[in-house]
Amino acid sequence: MKNPKIIGPGSSNVDLTGFAPKLPTAGETVMGTRLAIGPGGKGSNQMTAAARAGGDVYFITRLGEDTFGKVLEAHFDREGFRKDHILISDEVDTACALIEIDEADAQNRIMVIPAANSHVGRDEVMAAEGDFATCDVVLTQLEINMTGVMAAAELARKYNKPFILNPAPALPLPDEIWAFVDWFTPNETEVTLYTGVEVNNDDDARAAAKVLLDRGVKNVVITLGKRGAYWTDGKNEAIVPGYPVKAVETTGAGDTFNGAFAVALGEGKSPVDALAFANAAAAISVTRHGAAESAPQRDEIEALVK
Ligand code: RIB
Repeated sequence: MKNPKIIGPGSSNVDLTGFAPKLPTAGETVMGTRLAIGPGGKGSNQMTAAARAGGDVYFITRLGEDTFGKVLEAHFDREGFRKDHILISDEVDTACALIEIDEADAQNRIMVIPAANSHVGRDEVMAAEGDFATCDVVLTQLEINMTGVMAAAELARKYNKPFILNPAPALPLPDEIWAFVDWFTPNETEVTLYTGVEVNNDDDARAAAKVLLDRGVKNVVITLGKRGAYWTDGKNEAIVPGYPVKAVETTGAGDTFNGAFAVALGEGKSPVDALAFANAAAAISVTRHGAAESAPQRDEIEALVK
């Protein structure tokens, strides 16, 4: 089978991750245990997960000509990304994220300094139009300039390609985007921000999804953490269970889910099979440290799905 071609604009950050037994409250200082520096950014993490899951990745992103940029460039090389749309400019700094991990429960807090990511917009996406025409799936998130997200949606529609929008971090979206979204993949917190519906059970998930379907979204996938994912297209629905694992770090788990899901859809898997594949990838990722680095290889995902 040909590796599905996955394209999309997205963010690239270097993550500076500090671990502590307890996170500080405002004005408090706590002693941490260690610092990790490595590739991150929701866009780069999703594309890393896609490449490891078997995708042929065409990533549209921007780096500065600086030390962090070199870290990410080396990472893209190792992962085998196509480099046609990786832009490097000396006028901007490479983006970074400051991440705090609570060792007690593996949860995180993240602050992103967008820098070069803000310079991934409509022009950068339009310059990659030829690769949208021949791709299998378009995948993006919200850590770049919104004009880039909208342009990706328009090109996906122009060439009749599935458009996956992972609304992370949750930000206001232009009204006109909803009708372009084939797959909308919020987590429980994000879906509440978009719909006003708090998701505590299956009925809530159904109600939140209906709000989005009524706006024009074709398929809603709500990720439910350990419980897996809820999917509906308005006629069919499923809760696809997650895989029980012991989490050490959840940073990038949603990104891994989306990258693996894009590949599975591009291979023509059914929604339920694609979600099982994505759930397995995300489950493996939380058993490891790192954002991009925790994404599993395809054989590991397949072994867990079996
Ligand atoms: O989703 C996790 C990612 O969010 C981190 O890698 C960080 O860079 C922020 O973009």
